[in-house]
Amino acid sequence: MKMKTLEDVFQDELFDVYDAEQRLIKALPEMAKQATDPKLAEALRSHLRETEGQLQRLEQVFKILGVKAQKEKCEAMKGLIEEAEQLMKHTAEGAVRDAAMISAAQKVEHYEIASYGTLVALATTLGHTEAADILHETLKEEKNADSMLSMLAEDHVNDNAMRQAA
Ligand SMILES: [Fe+2]
Ligand SMILES: [Fe+2]
Repeated sequence: MKMKTLEDVFQDELFDVYDAEQRLIKALPEMAKQATDPKLAEALRSHLRETEGQLQRLEQVFKILGVKAQKEKCEAMKGLIEEAEQLMKHTAEGAVRDAAMISAAQKVEHYEIASYGTLVALATTLGHTEAADILHETLKEEKNADSMLSMLAEDHVNDNAMRQAA
């Protein structure tokens, strides 16, 4: 079905991210398990808990809009997660895998930042002020998760990875 209005585009993007967050909730536990660095493992576990909250926020937004919550297969998130799984499989355990995982996780966060950035802008334009505020909370969490991953990489994970014996 063709989307005719900006409201349609907004809802479509919500259905997409609703699917994306659920895919991530399934993928993050294994990533946390594969992390050797305790701070990285904790960051991934803590973002898993946040992501569960983000899913609830989306349900709240659907309720406010009077729209039935539904998923639309997010091919982008599916692909990003597949790449993360491949990286985990094909890297030596330890800091090297940690560094590779951070790269995959940051790609996920950047995708989410783009999605929620758009959602906040569309909600604002469409006059869905309450929805915009709720979505902005998630946008902030995604940006924090991204910064945390950069911090870990630059603080010690990349250095440890460089020293890891081949
Ligand atoms: Fe998220
Ligand atoms: Fe995220």
